[in-house]
Amino acid sequence: MLSCQKDKFSIPEGVHFLNCAYMSPQLKKVEEAGIEALMLKNDPSNIKTNDFFENSNKIRVEFSKIINNNAPEQIALIPSVSYGIANVVNNIAFSSDDEIILLGEQFPSNVYSWIEKARVTGAQIITVLPPENVIDRGKIWNERILEAIGPKTKVVAMCQAHWTDGTLFDLKSISSGIHEKDGYLIVDGTQSVGAYPFNVNEIKPDALICAGYKWLMGPYSQGVAYFSERFNRGKPIEHSWISRMNSKNFAGLVNYEEHYEAGAIRYDYGERSNFILNAMFLTALQQINVWGVDNIQEYCKWIIEPAVKSLSSLGYTIESVEYRTGHLFGIRLDKDLDLKKVATLLNKNNIQVSVRGSAVRVSPHLYNTHEDMEVLVRCLAKL
Ligand SMILES: Cc1ncc(COP(=O)(O)O)c(C=O)c1O
Repeated sequence: MLSCQKDKFSIPEGVHFLNCAYMSPQLKKVEEAGIEALMLKNDPSNIKTNDFFENSNKIRVEFSKIINNNAPEQIALIPSVSYGIANVVNNIAFSSDDEIILLGEQFPSNVYSWIEKARVTGAQIITVLPPENVIDRGKIWNERILEAIGPKTKVVAMCQAHWTDGTLFDLKSISSGIHEKDGYLIVDGTQSVGAYPFNVNEIKPDALICAGYKWLMGPYSQGVAYFSERFNRGKPIEHSWISRMNSKNFAGLVNYEEHYEAGAIRYDYGERSNFILNAMFLTALQQINVWGVDNIQEYCKWIIEPAVKSLSSLGYTIESVEYRTGHLFGIRLDKDLDLKKVATLLNKNNIQVSVRGSAVRVSPHLYNTHEDMEVLVRCLAKL
């Protein structure tokens, strides 16, 4: 079991930061890498041709380790989830007969592009909602998704863990279901990848899109996306020079090149070589691989479980362990509870969590301890 890693961060003393689902605190190493990279441009001759490629490719390799992908060229660098999803949406041919399955209250970056595509093509959006009842909510929600996949389903676009409360979805079964119909499974991994195991060889998503500033511990505005070989001949939404063949030959860039680099590199964003962000992101991904995602999940589970038990005995509702993650979970509050009162009390006690709808979203990491969870329980016990 890993020990607490708080010394690797600069979180102020006394703050119970339980909100990695909002944004991860910065690793000291990541801060240092960013400052060092920032200084490089004081003398641009420090930045060599190779620097436009090296860290980008190392990021592909490190992220591949996290998701068990053995072809790093299938990884693209993206500035946001909405950018990655736009590339996916633009490379699937739709007819008015097709259905696109989304989940209730999904994060909007994995919704708006689909709505727009449906508007233009006449395809239909099917939103699969959770049951009203809190008993077996995750189990029934999963069953509903499998039932919704039918002969017209072209795409299931969803997540591995729901961003509001960590509800866990059985992506392996959903992947088999949609692939039987020759459709696509598109996953927004932002709220799970880096802290919960994701194996592309087992789940076989057609695309896995992740923002980098939460569980991947990177800076804001640098994310990563895995595209399966199904997208290897697609058209990117922008036409950057650097993702074309022979782009290392700067002198020859005027010999316009029709062909792209192999795999998903065509979906990289323009100026993807961002020297500062890439240096920071690479350092973060390397640290995650040193810790190991399984170990991160094990640690988070270990610190939350006693609190989950105490909160359940206080009458709060929390999803059963099979259908929720250890790094992100929602505490459902009684409908009569005044959310403002809850937020004020948590603030007063320096507890950083997010309140989403009728739930308090708690999302710890390796810098947290049992004590952070106990402070939260003591606070909620007063309500
Ligand atoms: C599930 C999920 N996806 C994506 C994002 C961010 O999307 P984008 O990178 O398009 O801003 C968030 C941010 O909270 C999120 O929770």
